[in-house]
Amino acid sequence: MAAARPFKLMASILAGDALNLLDAIRMAETAGADWISLDVSDGHFVPTISFGEEVVRRSCQETKLPVEVHLMVSRPDDWIERMDGCGHHQMLFHLEASQRAMGVVNAIRKKGVRPGVAINPETPAEALITLLPYIDSVCMMGIAPGFAGQKLLDYTFTKCARLRELIDSTGSKATITIDGGVKAHNARQLVEAGADVLVVSSGLYGSENPAESLNEIRRIVSGD
Ligand code: DX5
Repeated sequence: MAAARPFKLMASILAGDALNLLDAIRMAETAGADWISLDVSDGHFVPTISFGEEVVRRSCQETKLPVEVHLMVSRPDDWIERMDGCGHHQMLFHLEASQRAMGVVNAIRKKGVRPGVAINPETPAEALITLLPYIDSVCMMGIAPGFAGQKLLDYTFTKCARLRELIDSTGSKATITIDGGVKAHNARQLVEAGADVLVVSSGLYGSENPAESLNEIRRIVSGD
């Protein structure tokens, strides 16, 4: 089986032990993740509350891996300010949470952070078309946001392929991340559909052998 496109694995610590987040970061590093994803939720845009700027700041100090902040919040502008200087490399906000997405993209970039936009399963890929030239990352949710451990929605593959077409046709350099429901059995199909980054949470923290779980994904995708 020929190798699929190159891709990165991002560990979302959401399914780690909330009282031992440093352990969750270490586990992701030891297992061989390429990025750490920190899911910041406000109890309003999604029903859950995770953590805030101090956890982001301390996490960035503790790891050499690049850190993404995934804002699942209703007022992303406030959080850009609040997290100024925390040390994260990339920040995502939800298109559904902003009436002025281009302004939010610019505000993130001004902080020296790579801007990205996340879209919920119900939001079509086409909704991003005007933003694509200005962002570094698109995160497609494969599940309803807010909770780890859900099953990937079936239409994610087609939607990812559509997003790949849009990105390639606009000349955008944005990468495609799939977040939610990623497991060894669907990873190859997602990368073939155009994904560049796969987020794994319960597939890592729910595993008895996290390193083997990430290796298995890499093996399956590369066809080894
Ligand atoms: C949920 C988060 C995801 C989630 C993924 O909104 O953005 O990162 O933790 O969890 P799994 O991999 O278990 O679907």
